[in-house]
Amino acid sequence: MPKMTFIERDGTRRDVDAPVGLSVLEIAHKHDIDLEGACEGSLACATCHVVVDPDWAAKLGTPTDDEEDMLDLAFGLEKTSRLGCQIVMTDALDGLTVRLPKAG
Ligand code: FES
Repeated sequence: MPKMTFIERDGTRRDVDAPVGLSVLEIAHKHDIDLEGACEGSLACATCHVVVDPDWAAKLGTPTDDEEDMLDLAFGLEKTSRLGCQIVMTDALDGLTVRLPKAG
């Protein structure tokens, strides 16, 4: 099974199992990682905001316009910011690393 890494707000690295087909948001919830996801993946909030490791950002492709619009509302936006509910795990993403943005 692929794995992925979350870097928590205090800098702790969490390597977790990342089942193919689950979103980064769902994976975070499975492992009690503090990513909110208030709208449960329906692109109506920005509380699932994660900052993708620059080495991985290109592999994820570009976000849709809807995702971009929602990201504009996210606190602490960075160049590789994405919405965790819109990143779906695949075998090719084995090792994906994302950081939780600073509290906001
Ligand atoms: S959970 Fe609301 S946009 Fe991702």
